[in-house]
Amino acid sequence: MRNVVLTGFMGCGKSTVGQMLAERLGCRYADLDALIVSREGASINNIFARHGESYFRQAETETIRGIVALNGLVVSTGGGAVISPLNRELLHAAGVVINLTADITTITARLESDTDRPLLREGRSAERLAALLAEREAMYADADLRIDTTGKSVEDVVAEVISFLE
Ligand code: S3P
Repeated sequence: MRNVVLTGFMGCGKSTVGQMLAERLGCRYADLDALIVSREGASINNIFARHGESYFRQAETETIRGIVALNGLVVSTGGGAVISPLNRELLHAAGVVINLTADITTITARLESDTDRPLLREGRSAERLAALLAEREAMYADADLRIDTTGKSVEDVVAEVISFLE
């Protein structure tokens, strides 16, 4: 099986959907942020604070490179993994790219009390999140399939992915 790569903005359900999808497909699950955390021995917040965002982005690219040669994985990416054109190319080389979206109200509600995401430290208002999302829209659109998760259960989203893969 080709890898299935989930992209999307923070709070669109990549990790939750990815884990259930891997379970349903009977394959392994990899979370790129978790791989970076274990490789660096530090939380995402600490990586950003100690080394800055560009260091994190470099680690992100190296981690993406690591999955290109692998097969049979469901991979969830960090929300900013699609920013770099090189990363987008690598993600397409790694597998089928599925972008999860949600409306701004849903995203804002899901991120309301999050403490693990450095980009939210500068604010998490619907306006700020919408602006960040708008900046990235074309990058997320570069996918084989887009699924709007708004108002859907995780099961429903997983079923949509599976029917696309069949
Ligand atoms: C980021 C999203 C996060 C994480 C980092 C940066 C982003 O991943 O990679 O905090 O730039 O959108 P999630 O989308 O899993 O929260």
